[in-house]
Amino acid sequence: MTQSTNKSGGPMSRGYLVAGNWKMNGSSASNAALVEGLLRGIAECPAIDVLVCPPALYLDAVRRHIGAAPIAVGGQNLSDEREPGAYTGELHASMLNDVGCSHVLVGHSERRTLYGENDACVARKFVVAQAGGLIPVLCIGETLAEREADQTEIVLKRQLDAVIAAAGIGAFINAVVAYEPVWAIGTGRTASVEQAQAAHAFIRGVLAANDAKIANSVRLLYGGSVKADNAASLFSCEDVDGGLIGGASLKAPEFLAICASAQILAASLDA
Ligand code: 13P
Repeated sequence: MTQSTNKSGGPMSRGYLVAGNWKMNGSSASNAALVEGLLRGIAECPAIDVLVCPPALYLDAVRRHIGAAPIAVGGQNLSDEREPGAYTGELHASMLNDVGCSHVLVGHSERRTLYGENDACVARKFVVAQAGGLIPVLCIGETLAEREADQTEIVLKRQLDAVIAAAGIGAFINAVVAYEPVWAIGTGRTASVEQAQAAHAFIRGVLAANDAKIANSVRLLYGGSVKADNAASLFSCEDVDGGLIGGASLKAPEFLAICASAQILAASLDA
């Protein structure tokens, strides 16, 4: 497989990003142990970017614990309201920014399916995330039924187009897109390398139809049952620029092993 020149360094280099989505897991004590584990190994991965997304309640403590180590912190969700105010239980983008978040997940399939977030809501969240100084990690992906009905590309394009219409293609200069086939999330069933690359190439093509240069610069992460033993093959796909890791991000050795897969690829491209 030919490597994209954009993975290989230079001014337009995308580089790798490995992100952990802790979902609704952890406690003060277990988070501290997890961060300790990550801090012990992160120096081995200087050529990649690493992000962790703990539950909102713990963002501040995790950010402080990480200190100056090269691990970014992001939220898992945010309000779609433009201004803070009387919205009980919600978190404004500026609050995530205030406690040191650089990123926020937007439109994760669990938010879409369990909490009724539609494309318009996800697009509003993408816009307010950026307005609040955060880099949105836009999650898109098809269900098993949609894949089996040959709807994958239609769904991906619909989910992307909703955000492009609301935010403009220029907004993707400061965004990450995560392709997470719903049927691969938490199931142990990973997309094949061919399925992942095909979906990522399609996503980049949709972006390129709006602006080829921006499309080439956007990091596209793969998510769905990424583990230490399949990360290297997925990450070596031309249009896969890292991963969004759920279950395997809760154990420091496993997450660091996934980071190491990206590090090895990044270092070989730099060489
Ligand atoms: P798993 O890695 O547990 O399949 O979860 C993927 C995911 O949803 C990350 O956002």
